[in-house]
Amino acid sequence: MKKDLLHAIGNTPLAKIFEHNPGSIYAKLEYLNPGGSIKDRSALYMVEWAEHRGLLKPGMTIIDASSGNHGIALAMIGAIKGYNVIICSTEKHSKEKINTIKAYGAQVRTFAPTDSLEDPNSYHSQAVLLQKNTPNSYMPNQYCNPLNAEAHYHGIGKEIWQQTDGKITHLIAAAGTGGTVSGAGKFLKEMNPNIKVIGVDAANSYRSTKGNPKPYKLEGMGVDSESIVLDNSVIDEFIEVTDDQGIDMMKNLAHKHGFLVGPSSGAVAYAAYVYSKNLRPNDIAVILFGDSGRAYLSKGFYE
Ligand SMILES: Cc1ncc(COP(=O)(O)O)c(C=O)c1O
Repeated sequence: MKKDLLHAIGNTPLAKIFEHNPGSIYAKLEYLNPGGSIKDRSALYMVEWAEHRGLLKPGMTIIDASSGNHGIALAMIGAIKGYNVIICSTEKHSKEKINTIKAYGAQVRTFAPTDSLEDPNSYHSQAVLLQKNTPNSYMPNQYCNPLNAEAHYHGIGKEIWQQTDGKITHLIAAAGTGGTVSGAGKFLKEMNPNIKVIGVDAANSYRSTKGNPKPYKLEGMGVDSESIVLDNSVIDEFIEVTDDQGIDMMKNLAHKHGFLVGPSSGAVAYAAYVYSKNLRPNDIAVILFGDSGRAYLSKGFYE
C-alpha cells in the first residue's frame, strides 16, 4: 500500500524486449508512473526541493515550459498539493497531452514552435516572462535546473542498478532536457565506470545539426538548446534518430511486441536495435520507455 499517489511514483518494472540479441535488452516502463511518464519523478523532486527551502508555499502558482509530460506531472502534483499550475507548450505537441494538463485543472498557454529554446518567442522564453510577471509564482525551470538530472541520479539510476543486481552494462535513453540520461548515467557510472551510457537525440535537433535545427515530429526528446542539464561527461555516444525511424519502430513495438509507447520510446528502441549488434552474450542493456502511445493517438502515427 502506498501512503498517497505521489508515493506511487517510481519503482517501475523492467520487461525484456528484442529476444533474439546476443545480449539482453530490458525496457523500463516509465509510462506506468501515475501521471503516465518519466517526468513524474523529476517534477516531484523539483517541487519538493523548492518547498523545503520555502520558495514554494501553498496557494502559489507553478509556471513552467513543457513538451507535455513535465507539465502533466506538475499539473497532477499541483492538484494534490494545492498549487495553481500554468504550463507553456507549443502547438506541435499532441492534443492529448495538452488536454491531460487541463484535465488536472491546470492552465495551458500554447505558442508557435521555434527552432531553438533560446528564441525569445519559444515556449520556454515565454514561460520565463510569464513567471516574472506573475506574483507569487515559482518556476522549476526543467531546462535549466540541475535538480532535473539529480532527480534521476537518485531515482531511476539507483533503481536500475538494484533491479539488475548491478549487472547493467548499457543505458540507452532519450535526451530532451538531458536530465534523465545525465542523472541516471552519472549514478550508474559511479557504480561501474565500464557501463556505457548512450543518449538518443532527434536527428534534426539543435545538438544533432550543430546549431542548424529543422522541424521534427518526435515529441518529448530532441536537444533544442545548449542544455546546461545535459552532462556530456557521462554520455559515451549519441545515436541520432529520424522521425521515420522512430515512428516506424513505435508502430512495430505496438503491432509486434505489445508495447504501446510514445515516439521517444520508438526512437530509443530503434537506437537499441541498431546498437544491439555491439552487445556481447552477457551484456544487459536497459532502455527507457518514457510515456504511453495513448498520448499520441490523434497524431495518426499508428496509421
Ligand atoms: C516521453 C519522454 N521521454 C523522454 C524524455 C526526455 O527526458 P529528459 O528531458 O530528461 O531528457 C521526455 C522529456 O520530456 C519525455 O517526455
